[in-house]
Amino acid sequence: MKPIDNEHTLIGPFCQVVTMAALPEAGPIADEQLQVLHNAGVLMQGERIVQVGDYTMLLKIASDNSYALEKVDQPMVLLPGLVDAHTHICYAGSRANDYAMRVAGKSYLEIARSGGGILDSVRKTREAPLVELVDLLRKRCDRHLAEGVTTCEVKSGYGLTVEAELKMLEAIQLVNKHHALELIPTCLAAHMRPPEHSDSRLYLQHVLKDLLPQVQERGLASRVDIFIEDTAFTEKEALEYLLAAREMGFDITVHADQFSTGGSRVAAEAGAISADHLEASGDAEIALLKDAGVVATVLPGASLGLGMHYAPARDMLDGGLCLAIATDWNPGSAPMGDLLLQAALLGAAEKLTMAETLAAITTRAARALNLTDRGTVEKGQLADMIAFPTDSYKEILYYQGKLKPTVVWKRGKKLEQSIRVKPEQQDPIS
Ligand code: NIG
Ligand code: FE
Repeated sequence: MKPIDNEHTLIGPFCQVVTMAALPEAGPIADEQLQVLHNAGVLMQGERIVQVGDYTMLLKIASDNSYALEKVDQPMVLLPGLVDAHTHICYAGSRANDYAMRVAGKSYLEIARSGGGILDSVRKTREAPLVELVDLLRKRCDRHLAEGVTTCEVKSGYGLTVEAELKMLEAIQLVNKHHALELIPTCLAAHMRPPEHSDSRLYLQHVLKDLLPQVQERGLASRVDIFIEDTAFTEKEALEYLLAAREMGFDITVHADQFSTGGSRVAAEAGAISADHLEASGDAEIALLKDAGVVATVLPGASLGLGMHYAPARDMLDGGLCLAIATDWNPGSAPMGDLLLQAALLGAAEKLTMAETLAAITTRAARALNLTDRGTVEKGQLADMIAFPTDSYKEILYYQGKLKPTVVWKRGKKLEQSIRVKPEQQDPIS
């Protein structure tokens, strides 16, 4: 008998493998378009998937070749690992006071005047030593991974000085080296004009000259973001900044149309990969993004946190856009950070098919990050996968975030979870 080949592993059998493969890159998706394989398995070699298909057929191949087996002994549904394409989870301090004031009816300006808002997180993040930021970020990554997120974008933007922005990006790089959750860093030094600078344009020029070259040389981020809004940067300032950053070789993404329109036009003109937020977008903005091939990343967590309406996700899909859904997890507008729950709620409110919602947090979210090696369960892709304790994929969104994955594979490595039952089977007292 041949010795066991541990380089290859067959996992399964799964009641269903929802591959998310071969779907249209943009526009509506009917549930019938989902590829759902029954009694299926996945053959992995190291960190990659080499074959997906009928379990009995794969078991024969595995036994002929003495491949290792990871037996699944209860009804399970397999999906690609989730991709959270927009977060701000590197920060210190809580903004629960802001939240209390907001729900009591205070305005954005009143909250800022009493010491809250983005600049409060900037103060606390500047004060926090690197080790503290690393520790806080690591804990948030632990939770995200346990909830099925295997790739997560993380922005800087609470430093707003060269030194503090570099500290944030270093913290992200350090956690990324040691954590199974893979982080995609983005430089958001253009989150707001910091209080030390009186001229926004000069601040952005300073970032271009004194920060971005260091970010590039040290391999700290290859993406640049800006917040376009009355309270942050104007369209003109943003376009000039983004074109210069793009010229340097950065990928572009934009905080656009959160409260007022204008940002999506800049995203289109700057050749951005994604425009994010878009709560204020209408038909004209959707058409602009469509013509420029920009991915629309909507952030239901910010709508929930701020108590405002969702972005028009249904109209976006009907208008032919590639729709991604992300958490925007941050201390101010979106403190919850539960991707599956938020996607399910948005899907229910906006009448998205299950296929559209699932695509928006897997394959289409990967597209929002310009990543082509994940987001589907198919040959050649990274073995980033999550398994739910159910026999039908429809139960995943049906339970609106309460059915969690119990097994997560990141680059072929298995991470077991402790929760093993469906929501209605959980003891309500415990
Ligand atoms: O995406 N809109 C701008 N920035 C963040 C909020 C950050 C904060 O409030 O700390 C967002 O919602
Ligand atoms: Fe954001």
